[in-house]
Amino acid sequence: MWNKFFYVNILFIFFLSLFHNVYASQTKNFNLQIKAVNLGNWLVTEGWMQPSLFDGIKNNDLLDGTHVQFMSMKLQKYLCAENGGGTIVVANRTKASGWETFRLWRVNETSFNLRVSNKQFIGLEDENKLVADINSPGDKETFEIVRNNDDPNRVKIRTPNGLFLQAISSESIVNAETVYEESSWEDSDPSVFKMTVLTSTILKGEYQITNGYGPDKAPKIMRDHWNTYITEDDFKFMSENGLNAVRIPVGWWITKDPTPPKPFVGGSLKILDNAFTWAQKYGMKVIVDLHAAPASQNGRVHSATRDGYREWGDSYISDTVATIDFLAERYAESPSLIAIQLMNEPYGVDLGSLKRYYQAGYEAVRKHTSSAYVIMSNPLDRDSKVLLQFARAFDRVVIDVHYYNLFWDKFSNMNVKQNIDYIRYNRASELSSLTSSNGPLIIVGEWSGEWMVKSASKEDYQKFMKAQVDVYSRATFGWAYWAYKCDSNYWSLKWLLDNNYVKF
Ligand SMILES: *[C@@H]1O[C@H](CO)[C@@H](O)[C@H](O)[C@H]1NC(C)=O
Ligand SMILES: *[C@@H]1O[C@H](CO)[C@@H](O)[C@H](O)[C@H]1NC(C)=O
Repeated sequence: MWNKFFYVNILFIFFLSLFHNVYASQTKNFNLQIKAVNLGNWLVTEGWMQPSLFDGIKNNDLLDGTHVQFMSMKLQKYLCAENGGGTIVVANRTKASGWETFRLWRVNETSFNLRVSNKQFIGLEDENKLVADINSPGDKETFEIVRNNDDPNRVKIRTPNGLFLQAISSESIVNAETVYEESSWEDSDPSVFKMTVLTSTILKGEYQITNGYGPDKAPKIMRDHWNTYITEDDFKFMSENGLNAVRIPVGWWITKDPTPPKPFVGGSLKILDNAFTWAQKYGMKVIVDLHAAPASQNGRVHSATRDGYREWGDSYISDTVATIDFLAERYAESPSLIAIQLMNEPYGVDLGSLKRYYQAGYEAVRKHTSSAYVIMSNPLDRDSKVLLQFARAFDRVVIDVHYYNLFWDKFSNMNVKQNIDYIRYNRASELSSLTSSNGPLIIVGEWSGEWMVKSASKEDYQKFMKAQVDVYSRATFGWAYWAYKCDSNYWSLKWLLDNNYVKF
């Protein structure tokens, strides 16, 4: 008997070692399957996840980045930055599109700079000439939007010299000396404009909330939010519910604490320190994820963009590397640090710039730790294999892919079964095609139980969640749910756990 077991054991060990050799270089001793949740909307605000955060902002339909159009009531023509900018502003268009659309930069609750489509700003060249060729706006490019009490979209635009803009004739936007605030709101008054706020363009992110509340109110609002949104109890809850890690989105300004450039608010670094303390106490790992890089790497609200433009590029690489260096140095010794993510969801970024950054960011992490993993986000607008070859050059590198059955038309008509099949076949085969013995590890760093199926039952959701957990557990580094808390229930893993939609 003993002999028989002995041989079986020997065989078993032999196969185990074969198996181990094949996968050794891939897993590089990685034996922890990350089951994480994203602490979204905590240190980087996303208004859609908790709209009430923005309720106290005055004129909160006029936030940074909101697109507005102005039609002269007298002429029934739209203001237009001729050629999209670089020259004069006229009032001779009957329809509004790109050249007739202005992105707000909020100076305070009533005053704004107006950015045109070539990214320049509107200014007064002299008393009688409005131009759109200013590169960086100052006092002279700051306009007050005066709203009518009865109709907030009936406005007058006060220039820095205290007078109102008038559309006298199509070609001439005059800053008339004769117009005062007491003048009429009649359609015939050349200073009256109808303002169209393109509500679908309203951004609600960290830039908008901090600049929206302004320097007097934002610090308290933000600190109250940080202190209450996620607490030690949440780490306890997560660990008791089978999660072993958190992915924490942070913004570049956290490294400038306690006095980040305006409008950002100081004090969030201490909160991130707390997260590490709690993670350690409850035996959890932390992925620090640079979600918002300087100048925005994707123009999306979650990158803390001011006005929707992606402006990250080569000239921001050194600042971004400094951010990573700071975070790696601060947390390198924490037993909870499992990985640093160099950037979240780059979109529209030059691939060469991104690789130069990833190389330098990797080295910045390695200056402080040889054990932490370095996560590189696959660019959203590229094939999911685009970094695989590049990533082979590094040790302990993970590629991050995000899987949502949302946002693309192809999902809008899928039923329950088609969605689940998509996970079990398409996602599974993509994951296995990304996985190779000498390549990087893979994490599905964001996924959700939300989908485009209308009136799905609880059981449908449960099946969809389970299919995703099954498949994403094959990702060699693991997965992270988006998000822990959210006003929309199916995006909230806490709600889903509390209501038995999913179990780990
Ligand atoms: C807003 O800014 C403008 C221009 O700097 C200033 O004149 C005005 O007093 C400010 N308004 C408020 C409410 O702070
Ligand atoms: C609007 O005015 C500008 C400046 O005079 C002129 O170049 C342009 O052709 C006009 N466009 C229309 C549609 O009238």
